[in-house]
Amino acid sequence: MSVFDLTVTDALLSTTRAVRKRLDLEKPVPRQIITDCLELALQAPTGSNRQGWRWVVVTDAAKRAALAELYRKGVGTYLDDAYHEASASGATQDSRVFDSARYLAENLQHVPVHVIPCIDAGHIPADAPPRAWGGLMGSIYPAMWSFQLALRARGLGSVLTTLHLKFADDASSLLGIPQNIVQAGLMPVAYTIGTSFKLAKRRPLDEIVHWDAW
Ligand SMILES: Cc1cc2nc3c(=O)[nH]c(=O)nc-3n(C[C@H](O)[C@H](O)[C@H](O)COP(=O)(O)O)c2cc1C
Repeated sequence: MSVFDLTVTDALLSTTRAVRKRLDLEKPVPRQIITDCLELALQAPTGSNRQGWRWVVVTDAAKRAALAELYRKGVGTYLDDAYHEASASGATQDSRVFDSARYLAENLQHVPVHVIPCIDAGHIPADAPPRAWGGLMGSIYPAMWSFQLALRARGLGSVLTTLHLKFADDASSLLGIPQNIVQAGLMPVAYTIGTSFKLAKRRPLDEIVHWDAW
């Protein structure tokens, strides 16, 4: 016997996609939905249960436009370069992903809500080993994913983006984010156009799982 309805939970876990072109740029998002989804996100784990997360929710149009500019600066030639690299190596799915990523870069300012998940890094010395930084980011990413799942369950969508982070300091100045607070990404949030999303094609499990030894 399952504890939850697996038809529902498995569909949620397997169809929460990176949504870009199907973000509804016209439909307003009620503040309550964002706070409900953030409340759920706070049930995620953090290292030592430190809960250093902070969330900056941006609805102001001028600030979204400024963030979109930083995002585009961050994109630079990255998408074109990555696309050419993927085509040269024979990767298949990629033209659609890059198309979709370009669309987001062009339209980010129109997405009604930008959520910037952050984490307090005040306790980590600048020369800390990578393990410490892994633990720091590992204390915000699970919550980011929970937030995305909660959105999906309510008919909204998002995509985890990181390309503005090259200019994270500018975003911090724009939003008054203190120096000890590290941004983990930028999640554009909107209702989705339609709610049916497909299972993604991933690498076969057999290729990547090792039982008892590598
Ligand atoms: C660490 C990380 C960084 C990402 N950065 C970006 C980004 O800057 N812009 C973007 O459009 N998508 C970004 N993505 C989204 C990925 O492209 C997306 O998750 C991937 O293509 C799989 O999409 P799917 O789950 O819909 O199959 C990022 C995802 C992760 C996990």
